[in-house]
Amino acid sequence: MQNVNRQWRLKARPQGMPTPETWEMVEAPVPDPGDGQIVARACWLSVDPYMRGRIAAGPSYARPVEPGEVMQGGGVGAVVRSRNPAFKPGDIVESMGWGWQDYATLNPQGTRKVDLAHGPMRHALGVLGMPGLTAYFAFLDVGAPRVGDVVVVSSAAGAVGQVVGQIAKLMGCRAVAVAGSAAKLAWCRELGYDAAVDYKSGDLRAALAAATPDGVDVYFDNTAGPIFDAVMERINLRARIVQCGTIDTYNRSGQPDTGLRHHRHMLVKRARWQGFLYTDYVHRAEEGLARLGAWVRDGRIRYREDIAEGIERMPQAFLRLLTGENLGKQLVRVAPEPGAA
Ligand SMILES: NC(=O)c1ccc[n+]([C@@H]2O[C@H](COP(=O)([O-])OP(=O)(O)OC[C@H]3O[C@@H](n4cnc5c(N)ncnc54)[C@H](OP(=O)(O)O)[C@@H]3O)[C@@H](O)[C@H]2O)c1
Repeated sequence: MQNVNRQWRLKARPQGMPTPETWEMVEAPVPDPGDGQIVARACWLSVDPYMRGRIAAGPSYARPVEPGEVMQGGGVGAVVRSRNPAFKPGDIVESMGWGWQDYATLNPQGTRKVDLAHGPMRHALGVLGMPGLTAYFAFLDVGAPRVGDVVVVSSAAGAVGQVVGQIAKLMGCRAVAVAGSAAKLAWCRELGYDAAVDYKSGDLRAALAAATPDGVDVYFDNTAGPIFDAVMERINLRARIVQCGTIDTYNRSGQPDTGLRHHRHMLVKRARWQGFLYTDYVHRAEEGLARLGAWVRDGRIRYREDIAEGIERMPQAFLRLLTGENLGKQLVRVAPEPGAA
């Protein structure tokens, strides 16, 4: 067992786009668990867009990381020390409260054992974890799809978006992807999206009109910004707009958002616009995992991951999300999985 715990700590709050120097790596002692706790070693760490909000000042749905603190984030790995009878060394566990570090001290609340029968452990951070379950509950509960609905998804090739499109197809909908590169559009088409629009090239409104000749019934919005405005112009009577993410605004938090005003359009179309937060659904995770897990096992849902190597790459891996370089769920491999050659 390695005798230092490499940790990424927030150095200073960024203004605008963060840089790798926003964080600094330090070496701390490997922690000992307190009574009832475990210490686990990370094999995989997750980077997710919400982390941009955690390093911004100002009110949100969770406490921000303070300068000097270990950066928040999810991870999956093996228990190395346990002072809790429910966990033993070698158990594979996942927690959203891991932090950007090799060794995490975890409380049993918020720590789940990962059953490797469902798939590789890294899936617990992706398709069978927070992003996959976000796609599942946000689309099915808030989007309330019906057979024949036209569903538009932004950031469609990402950790959440690729699952939304495939569930939309399983529900008998027409699925339209919006994403930022030719490679992402190709992946979306391979997954079964009926049409794919590149919002970075050409006329977005014209491309959306061509892809949605019968309008839009469900808009699964991961981005806000100009994509939201363009899709809103095409919503149908009683459309449902799922506000899952607003990544277009993440580097200008605290500033008023600008853009078109859609109030009259919402009224005329009697549409519903509703926010979603995964934490409201954590208590239903097992229910979602049972159905999603079956779809993944029988190949009806496929999932692409984008893997960075080494804990040293955490900041760069995170920044890929904000620049659109990731194709699929961005992960960082921190240590070999137990038993790996
Ligand atoms: N509400 C919740 O509980 C919840 C849970 C999970 C995730 N989310 C949100 O869902 C969204 C997707 O998360 P994810 O984990 O699946 O990330 P992701 O899609 O795998 O990665 C982020 C992607 O966002 C796109 N992007 C970046 N800047 C953009 C901009 N200015 N305009 C449009 N697109 C931009 C990029 O793709 P392109 O190349 O296509 O631009 C980038 O690859 C995020 O907004 C995230 O915060 C919300």
